[in-house]
Amino acid sequence: MLLLLPIGLQAQVRTERLLEKGWRFTRDDAPAFAEPSYDDSRWQEVTVPHDWAIYGPFSAGNDLQHTAIAQDGQTQAVEHAGRTGGLPFVGTGWYRLRFEVPERNEGRRCTLLFDGAMSHARVYVNGREAIRWPNGYNSFHTDITPLLNPGGENLLAVRLENLPESSRWYPGAGIYRNVHLIVTDEAHVPVWGTQIITRRADEASARVRQCTALAVPQGKSPADYAIETAVTDPAGRIVARHRQSAGADFGDHCFEQEFTIDRPALWSPDTPALYTSTSEIYEGGELKDRYVTVFGIRTVEAVQGEGFRLNGKPLKFRGVCLHHDLGPLGGIVNESAIRHRIRLLKEMGCNAIRTSHNMPAPELIEICDETGMMVMAESFDEWETKKVENGYHKEFGQWAERDLVNLVRRFRNNPSVVMWCIGNEVPDQWNGDRGPKLSLRLQNICHREDPTRPVTQGMDAPDAVTANNMAAVMDIPGFNYRPHLYARNYLRLPQEMILGSETASTISSRGIYKFPVVRRSMPRYDDHQASSYDVEHCGWSNLPEDDFIQHDDRPYCMGEFVWTGFDYLGEPTPYYSDWPSHSSLFGIIDLAGIPKDRYWLYRSKWNPEAETLHILPHWNWKGREGEVTPVFIYTNYPEAELFINGRSQGRRRKDTGVTIDNSADSVSAADLKRQRRYRLMWMDTRYEPGTVKAVAYDEEGNAVAEREIRTAGEPYRIVLEADRTVIAADGKDYAFVTVRVEDRQGTPCPLADNEIRFEVTGAGYYRAGANGNPASLEPFQRPRMKLFSGMMTAVIAPTERPGTITVKATSPGLKKATVEIRSEAATQR
Ligand code: GAL
Repeated sequence: MLLLLPIGLQAQVRTERLLEKGWRFTRDDAPAFAEPSYDDSRWQEVTVPHDWAIYGPFSAGNDLQHTAIAQDGQTQAVEHAGRTGGLPFVGTGWYRLRFEVPERNEGRRCTLLFDGAMSHARVYVNGREAIRWPNGYNSFHTDITPLLNPGGENLLAVRLENLPESSRWYPGAGIYRNVHLIVTDEAHVPVWGTQIITRRADEASARVRQCTALAVPQGKSPADYAIETAVTDPAGRIVARHRQSAGADFGDHCFEQEFTIDRPALWSPDTPALYTSTSEIYEGGELKDRYVTVFGIRTVEAVQGEGFRLNGKPLKFRGVCLHHDLGPLGGIVNESAIRHRIRLLKEMGCNAIRTSHNMPAPELIEICDETGMMVMAESFDEWETKKVENGYHKEFGQWAERDLVNLVRRFRNNPSVVMWCIGNEVPDQWNGDRGPKLSLRLQNICHREDPTRPVTQGMDAPDAVTANNMAAVMDIPGFNYRPHLYARNYLRLPQEMILGSETASTISSRGIYKFPVVRRSMPRYDDHQASSYDVEHCGWSNLPEDDFIQHDDRPYCMGEFVWTGFDYLGEPTPYYSDWPSHSSLFGIIDLAGIPKDRYWLYRSKWNPEAETLHILPHWNWKGREGEVTPVFIYTNYPEAELFINGRSQGRRRKDTGVTIDNSADSVSAADLKRQRRYRLMWMDTRYEPGTVKAVAYDEEGNAVAEREIRTAGEPYRIVLEADRTVIAADGKDYAFVTVRVEDRQGTPCPLADNEIRFEVTGAGYYRAGANGNPASLEPFQRPRMKLFSGMMTAVIAPTERPGTITVKATSPGLKKATVEIRSEAATQR
């Protein structure tokens, strides 16, 4: 397929388009694939973003790792079957695309920008290597003008290669993020060429400085050009303008412009106000470039003894760590999937995301800007010392600076990014000499590229890093786990603040409950699940309340980033060797995007203004009649009464007398003492079929809310619920359809595992599905799947033709269901 830039665009000073369609793809490998003359017509036709491995099939043999995970306390090598998800990401893949650029490209520059390609990219244009970039998560760009056939057809070829044992989770595979083709004049603002800094800001006014780089043709100097910048507020009104005439001394090819903005709308999670700067570059009277930068006005500070401040106000992080995969969609970037996730997190009261352990997709950051979600943007999981055999330690020496520079330059204008993270539990922590030096070096690179944001890293060896000063040299010392050591770490640190850079690692499976209900570390069950009573964790980790209490009671604790917001592909701890197990159990939300019970615990704490009154477990325990079956309530209210079949089981109140110190011993831990401060627990209720009702009371003792669950009868009908019933007819605005089974009375059936078949007709198709079962090996793309704990999610894609999409779900013995989704052309929207 030939890609032509629309003729009209040639007249524009700058054009940018995504190279999405018409790619050819193969898993074979040969040097000839870079050559324009090679015939690729037999290759698979694919659309980018594309993840070649998510189509499976799952197999224990895919990237089977035989190793001891030191971080997890393993001293002897064991077999790790699903560590990277059991999907076929290892090996090579080639992508080829034929494209044209405007005929009159005399005096024009052409740049390719990759948002990320997994991994070890080698990019060829017309048979010649244009750039290579090993890190699969990072953005990189290159000017391809000299390699182009003026006015003719060009061939872009990309070779990717993923090594075995190169990751600790599912990395995805392929050109899984967007590729941009940017055409400019010879005189132009280069990629990521602006830097906009809030110098100071309060409600009355803000001072903002913009630096703009300029690339100029040979024989010219930046002083030959003028720049005019206009800043518009969130409503599109021009609020500042500045013109710098030609002839000035632009020093290091960088125009500096300063703006005062009265009564600025400050960016924050509650007020995600975005400003736009549009800079025009002129040579004489001729417009050469128009460059748009979206930014926010806000200040961030890490204050000694106090913690983090946004716009001068103290703020604690209620954050989650997120790996990059989008569950059944794999590594591909997709805006609608990201929005769906952020909606769920915001509704839970989450205010920050840590992009563990790598550079995020630009779409994620832009959506965080827009919706008000702070970001800790991370770079590396390894420095010089290896965690996995073929990990980033092999590239670190040569690439670390370039990788970090690209991360910072790409996202330095995004207001959601409030700090940089240079590493995660790097084994260099234990190296008293190298650890602190490397920390300083990487932190300094961040400061050099961006003097406004603090830098942190997640460290899990508190004794080592407080002894060798690796923690002391950081702007913000970030600690992974071990909250019981925070107070001691604090005394050893000049910054007098502690960030919970990674916390909890509580494990659970949605809708699965284990008896007796006891706190357990690294439990393993035959079904490869973990209990949704939220009492199970890893050897190094803890329960949510062990973190809540620290950040509530110690003013210097800055808040936390929970491991993790969503389940992700790979790392099915503690089922290291127990295949099948393809995804993690750490998520507050499962791989299908369905909240687990824990979601309501975090919501009750993090979003106290919203009413939460959640009862667990489900009430379908045939065979457990008369047996002790504890009931927990997660609520924002201080007190509740529980009724089983109308009989009161007593009133419970959150125990505010529990403190860090009086609950620090092992007996208190086993007794779930801290949990009594944050959840309401009836530990000795007995099961009998019927109803479980909760009545919540406010501080004044008024009954303010009521909730009831009941024992479900036989599965009777399928119920479909789409997150949106109107989407864009652009091929990528997916709808997320929640699928559940109910009995005749409309009670959800929590044990239903019926296989549901989908038939999608009209202007869309079945894109993928997931049920959140980490031990399922059903392919995500097949339009039929078994429910897990009574539910699953179907992802429906629109075609590019507007119309109605009909999703029909059937299963033998169940009443079928349909849902209609309308897809509209951009002009209709
Ligand atoms: C941490 C690590 C994460 C993940 C987590 C599981 O040590 O930083 O990447 O492995 O443990 O608890």
